[in-house]
Amino acid sequence: SYNGLNLVPQMGWNNWNAFQCDVDESLLLDTAQKMIDFGLRDLGYNHIVLDDCWSIDRNESGYLVSDPIKFPSGMKAIADRLHQLGFRFGMYSSAGIFTCARYPGSLGHEQKDADLWASWGVDYLKYDNCFNQGQSGTPKLSFDRYKVMSDALNSTGHPMVYSMCNWGNDDPYDWAYTIANSGRMSGDIYDSFNRPDARCPCTEAIGCSWPGFHCSVMNILNKMAPIAPRTMSGYFNDMDMLEVGNGGQSDSEYVVHFSMWAIHSSPMLIGTNVGTLSPANLAIYSNPAILAINQDPSAGGASRKWRYFVDPDETGEGEISLWTRGLKNGDRIVALLNAANSTMMMNASMNEIFFDQRTAGAYREPEELRQTWDIYDLWANRMSEEEAASIINGNATTRGNHTTRFNATATS
Ligand code: GLA
Repeated sequence: SYNGLNLVPQMGWNNWNAFQCDVDESLLLDTAQKMIDFGLRDLGYNHIVLDDCWSIDRNESGYLVSDPIKFPSGMKAIADRLHQLGFRFGMYSSAGIFTCARYPGSLGHEQKDADLWASWGVDYLKYDNCFNQGQSGTPKLSFDRYKVMSDALNSTGHPMVYSMCNWGNDDPYDWAYTIANSGRMSGDIYDSFNRPDARCPCTEAIGCSWPGFHCSVMNILNKMAPIAPRTMSGYFNDMDMLEVGNGGQSDSEYVVHFSMWAIHSSPMLIGTNVGTLSPANLAIYSNPAILAINQDPSAGGASRKWRYFVDPDETGEGEISLWTRGLKNGDRIVALLNAANSTMMMNASMNEIFFDQRTAGAYREPEELRQTWDIYDLWANRMSEEEAASIINGNATTRGNHTTRFNATATS
């Protein structure tokens, strides 16, 4: 990690997916309280990130001014309160003259803005890419522009996680780990499993980068395949904020979305209205086994071992695939993904699962093939909807035994 922070992916909540600009201090604080009540903070979701639309102006000394109607207590007081509640506070700006929603941006004001955030006790910056004045289009232009803020944050002496949001332009996976803690790698997600809408020229071939938004879960996942190895402790490929809870996908699609983000070590930022979370969706966000993979110190990406188009539909995404990843303790994650339109039986051979144990030119039989493995289904034992409902209604005596839900279902 270039600054010693974010050795495992950041977790928390961000208001954008569910609320866009309709955000104020009570939303931030009420969400924080709900996250405590629902056990989410204690599962590791410990950042509250305020997205676009808070900075209405600059004052005569050149400092950003926050909207006094939406944030009457001021950002310092909000940060203090979030800290008391056990959260870290995330702020948003753009490496451009405006933010994406046309509020004042930070290009040319980096040190003043970083100093202001540090004085408020801000712990985290999401830094967007709109209105960048053409300082984009080559890795050097993007690097130089994002490095100015990186240096500004560092020079405050106050630790702030730096979450870059340039939508994967100019291949940040090649250069951003020296200046940032995570980097978005696609245009904006929207709440669809596999249907990019007309506004999203977001195919695997052209890489789902900006301009392009409304990228589906499958668009983003498939863009990860070649770049997954470029994630590392301290710099994570950010697959964008989670949509679980926003209503556009089925339960099993949300399970895929959540699982695939987790196994790729993506940041895990809840992107829904926690106040209206359903029991089924709370149970997804609360799966401690999946979160443990995401927070594993191996901090790696998963690799796609095979992919077949078995049932192409009009979106061209009727596919099945096998993804695997090793964990620090030697465990192996195996994800068999059925994104086709029918139920099917899928097999994964041990050789396929451990294929990356081969080294170029010199095949050696993976040792793992001769070992005996216990197989765990990490979704089989998820929190029941009854238990999740009692947590939401405030009648739960416990918030679930979050550490012992791993359940052996078979051995081989
Ligand atoms: C861009 C980002 C989004 C969000 C909006 C805010 O589109 O990619 O995540 O921050 O800006 O305007």
